[in-house]
Amino acid sequence: MSEIKKRLSTILESPHFPTEEKLQKICHLLDQEIHYFNWTGFYFRNGDKDELILGPYVGAETDHTVIPFGKGICGQVAVSGETFVVPDVHDQDNYLSCSIDTKAEIVVPIIKDGENIGQIDIDSHKLDPFTAEDREMLEWLCAEVAKIL
Ligand code: SME
Repeated sequence: MSEIKKRLSTILESPHFPTEEKLQKICHLLDQEIHYFNWTGFYFRNGDKDELILGPYVGAETDHTVIPFGKGICGQVAVSGETFVVPDVHDQDNYLSCSIDTKAEIVVPIIKDGENIGQIDIDSHKLDPFTAEDREMLEWLCAEVAKIL
């Protein structure tokens, strides 16, 4: 297991922190360890409503605290249930801009018991920065997060 997965596991398995704090610590760890992760946060489905609500995050404050299903990259992942990698946000028509510095984005869904309950969203100030390893690590992370929710 990679070093970062080990550290993420330690947070996820800790008996000392409530879930919300674990998610916050995960955001901090990813933000610290991967220099091109410049905004890292979680969104979760708002009950039965077709909208996402911003959860724990690290990075600049965002106007997008509520995102309707289908809107932006996050809203599209809420509908598709599939990872969405955007190497260049300027190529996207259905995109919600959080910061003019953001050049790329990756959103990975959190699926629990077959249901799409939320996602991790990462913005980068670098063009096309996300590697296959990043994607694999984030998909692994979301599967692990689903277990504690
Ligand atoms: N860019 C996202 C909105 C969320 S912010 O990046 C934090 C989108 O298009 O869904």
